[in-house]
Amino acid sequence: MDFAGAHILSIEQFERGDIDTLFRTADRMEPFAQRRRVTRVLEGAILGNMFFEASTRTRISFGSAFNLLGGEVRESVGAESSSLVKGESLRDTARVLSGYSDVICMRHPQAGSVAEFASASRVPVINGGDGSNEHPSQALLDLYTIERELQARGRHIDGLRIAMIGDLKYGRTVHSLSKLLTLYRNIRVVLVSPPELAMPEAYVEALRTAGHEVEVTESLEQSISRVDIVYSTRIQEERFQDRSQADLYRGRFRLNQAIYTRHCEPNTVIMHPLPRDSRAEANELDADLDSNPNLAIFRQTDNGLIVRMALFALILDVAHLVDQYAREVPWFNHRNR
Ligand code: NCD
Repeated sequence: MDFAGAHILSIEQFERGDIDTLFRTADRMEPFAQRRRVTRVLEGAILGNMFFEASTRTRISFGSAFNLLGGEVRESVGAESSSLVKGESLRDTARVLSGYSDVICMRHPQAGSVAEFASASRVPVINGGDGSNEHPSQALLDLYTIERELQARGRHIDGLRIAMIGDLKYGRTVHSLSKLLTLYRNIRVVLVSPPELAMPEAYVEALRTAGHEVEVTESLEQSISRVDIVYSTRIQEERFQDRSQADLYRGRFRLNQAIYTRHCEPNTVIMHPLPRDSRAEANELDADLDSNPNLAIFRQTDNGLIVRMALFALILDVAHLVDQYAREVPWFNHRNR
């Protein structure tokens, strides 16, 4: 794909070579994310960060990534504070906001909404999550994390064994990640959910068509015993017609250190897109895993910053200029201690 000026709406746009381009660009962003150097390569550019649904890390990391490249960020948070509540169409909103921005990140509760918005936008639009459909930047940072974690163990994405656990029906991160895995070879995917929250058939079919081995189960213990990555997810209560129905599934697949020790191979990596539901009745990833060095959830969030920087650098076509606009950082930086 040609990144310059492209909307990023779905993982389906990517080929394997594009992922390599993105990941090797992300590698080069690390000194800037760690504030060892600063670059002003996006000076004068404005990101419109439009989040019409709850978000912490996606919104802040997109904004921080843009700032770290020297650009500025304007935000709108919550549909209730925008003109969408006055009946304005997504397409009109897009016409307006694209006049104020050079690139837009958008999250919206409706599947397909970001693509509709993008069709009327005059600047590139990145999908920050459209309902239960897709969350492409999350899948990209997840796969980048998987690559790094496996590399440290002498392994590669090809040949990966992964268990995806929890709400696979409404979880957009596992939808995008499944699509992404179809670009690789010889993967074993174990899908763990209650039958009512199973991965939609189209994603399963795509994995099988790619030649991958797919196993479907309801047993956490069984699923985590022969994998490299355990990818846990939250029950997406906001997608349920009747939220109380979500209570039926909350806490169904708890992972703690005792279960990990008993069932996982040594050095199995634990991932989660976050937020993990840490309420007592859910406790998806127990706090006693926090001292387990294989818990990669905060390496995921750190990687999110550099992958999003790379996306911006490629979309705004400055990836090759980042160093030319860079300089050293004079201020005290606790990261360098
Ligand atoms: C995810 C999302 O919004 O889909 N969060 C995120 O962006 N990291 C997962 C979730 O909310 O459960």
